[in-house]
Amino acid sequence: MADLTTDFVGIKSPNPFWLASAPPTDKEYNVRRAFEAGWGGVVWKTLGEDPPIVNVNGPRYGAIWGADRRLLGLNNIELITDRPLEVNLREIKAVKRDYPDRAVVVSLMVPCEEEAWKKILPLVEETGADGVELNFGCPHGMSERGMGSAVGQVPEYIEMVTRWVKQYTRMPCIVKLTPNITDVRKPAAAAHAGGADAVSLINTINSITGVDLDIFAPEPTIDGKGAHGGYCGPAVKPIALNMVAEIARSPEMRGLPISGIGGVTTWKDAAEFMVLGAGNVQVCTAAMTYGFKVVQEMISGLSQFMDEKGLTDTSELIGRAVPNISDWQHLNLNYVTKAEIDQDLCISCGRCYAACEDTSHQAIAMSDDRVFTVKDEECVACNLCVVVCPVEDCITMVEMQPGQTDPRTEREVVKEYANWTTHPNNPGAVKAAE
Ligand SMILES: Cc1cc2nc3c(=O)[nH]c(=O)nc-3n(C[C@H](O)[C@H](O)[C@H](O)COP(=O)(O)O)c2cc1C
Ligand code: SF4
Ligand code: SF4
Repeated sequence: MADLTTDFVGIKSPNPFWLASAPPTDKEYNVRRAFEAGWGGVVWKTLGEDPPIVNVNGPRYGAIWGADRRLLGLNNIELITDRPLEVNLREIKAVKRDYPDRAVVVSLMVPCEEEAWKKILPLVEETGADGVELNFGCPHGMSERGMGSAVGQVPEYIEMVTRWVKQYTRMPCIVKLTPNITDVRKPAAAAHAGGADAVSLINTINSITGVDLDIFAPEPTIDGKGAHGGYCGPAVKPIALNMVAEIARSPEMRGLPISGIGGVTTWKDAAEFMVLGAGNVQVCTAAMTYGFKVVQEMISGLSQFMDEKGLTDTSELIGRAVPNISDWQHLNLNYVTKAEIDQDLCISCGRCYAACEDTSHQAIAMSDDRVFTVKDEECVACNLCVVVCPVEDCITMVEMQPGQTDPRTEREVVKEYANWTTHPNNPGAVKAAE
């Protein structure tokens, strides 16, 4: 059976599934139960300076649901821990003592002043925690006070604070990045330059998930008013995957460990983050939606997948897809496919026809008795029909083989690779050839 043990910046855990800093990790009671359920590690709910912050006393969450009311996106206006520092530190120490084989990382957010960091770090170190995660990500509330994403959006601040942290503690330092930025490589590079042992991403995305149209106020609504919150859950996974990939393939940050966060709900989500370069994953919304035991399916699913692929340990999985992340200009323009409809699976709903006829390339024919077929001479292989078809695998994209003629272009398919950089239509390529 595959070995799921991970060593992330020297922090060992029995599996790569950590709970992210959030309500699931905000107290000893939760964390003990999480460890009993099987989580490999936790990042404790962000600690701050005393006196503790105060949360609103009304709703904290907004949400987006799928048609089956499955939670797809969660928006929150919760702040960092609202419990005294001393209480959290005492509980962290007790938990770490009782679960020495699990990762216990402490998330921190204090003002952007050297003294504040210098003061809190020894207190955390004293608990026996395995590392710290710097919360430069929360986009609401704390950012208005010059913390969270207000720091995470300024690479110079990230580098400066990271340096302080590396100066005042020997614990590994993970910098948690905000996605509320144009190019995530800039803050990641700043963390790297400041000496961070790793980055974790993503924190939540600035959002308003909905507006109450009876009272004309954003949700969640507190006494008639609403504020933007932080968005997370399955809906943010694509954004998180891309940001992880951007860092993983950046030559400047080669080898910088990454903890992948954002919408991880199943083992497959975790595997996707890991093959794109994440050394482990952190989970929040899935635990909040399905409870701590959701980790058990993640563990068994990942283990089974690795066995099927003949992978013996997680190091063989991490970064496996990174060499296959490309820029558009390097994609093979000689690769040709055509849509093909499996008539046995087709339920004649006509969605593919409507999509292709109205918004793609008029490449699907509908007969009087509602049989749908692809016109190869029109099909540009965009695969819109595949994504709108309600029946999985009913439409597939079939690769044309070298020597065959593409009826749309009337050109022979060749096996040689050719991309935009050398294409005759590319003015840049023509110039280079001249
Ligand atoms: C209610 C709530 C509170 C959160 N509080 C924190 C926090 O205190 N510190 C932090 O770094 N991230 C916090 N997060 C962000 C999560 O750690 C995580 O980055 C984000 O939810 C994305 O992961 P997910 O899609 O698995 O939920 C919070 C998220 C939620 C939903
Ligand atoms: S792949 Fe695109 S062009 Fe081809 S049939 Fe489907 S929707 Fe139409
Ligand atoms: S969308 Fe799928 S099921 Fe519906 S008609 Fe097209 S191929 Fe058939």
